[in-house]
Amino acid sequence: MSLKVLTILGIIANMIAVLPVAEAQTTSLATCLPEFDWMNDSRNQSPCVVAAYMQGACTNGEYIVQPLAPSYHYIGPTVKQDNPCQCSTVVYSLMSACGMCQNRTIEGWSAWQTNCSVVYTQQFPESIPFGINVPGWAYLDVVTKDTFSAAAAKADICK
Ligand SMILES: *[C@@H]1O[C@H](CO)[C@@H](O)[C@H](O)[C@H]1NC(C)=O
Ligand SMILES: *[C@@H]1O[C@H](CO)[C@@H](O)[C@H](O)[C@H]1NC(C)=O
Ligand SMILES: *[C@@H]1O[C@H](CO)[C@@H](O)[C@H](O)[C@H]1NC(C)=O
Repeated sequence: MSLKVLTILGIIANMIAVLPVAEAQTTSLATCLPEFDWMNDSRNQSPCVVAAYMQGACTNGEYIVQPLAPSYHYIGPTVKQDNPCQCSTVVYSLMSACGMCQNRTIEGWSAWQTNCSVVYTQQFPESIPFGINVPGWAYLDVVTKDTFSAAAAKADICK
């Protein structure tokens, strides 16, 4: 083989080796209790996984949902993080479900959106990422009662 061919093969081999590193990481390290299985999407993924993908839509597909320690809850974006995905009630609902399914508490929508310059009520500002099916309950109203409601979400599935 000529040196040129070897060089090209070398470049291709490098590209293949680099690919997994460049691949976006959108995942959840949090695990849900089995009694919250009903919160899974139709691909059998927990709300924490769905929430990770949705938040990754604003951060180049990179987002890891960390588990919550006892007596902690997820909070909305900081001023610096202020990004449209996290300022959507859809993400708030999914992250609330993710907190609840770990047997943790949640915060109200008004607290969550404190640092948001623009909020997206019952809508999501980006294209839905591939790999998830967002449950319908994530689009329910959380503004009126200022909270995500697991009861309302469950009722929405059964309707
Ligand atoms: C729900 O999702 C979790 C985590 O993705 C999975 O371990 C579990 O088997 C799922 N349950 C059902 C009923 O799909
Ligand atoms: C808003 O952002 C500040 C810092 O930028 C942070 O300390 C605070 O926790 C945020 N508020 C909420 C409700 O997330
Ligand atoms: C859920 O949390 C409550 C209160 O923190 C605790 O008493 C209970 O044991 C927890 N349940 C599970 C299944 O972890």
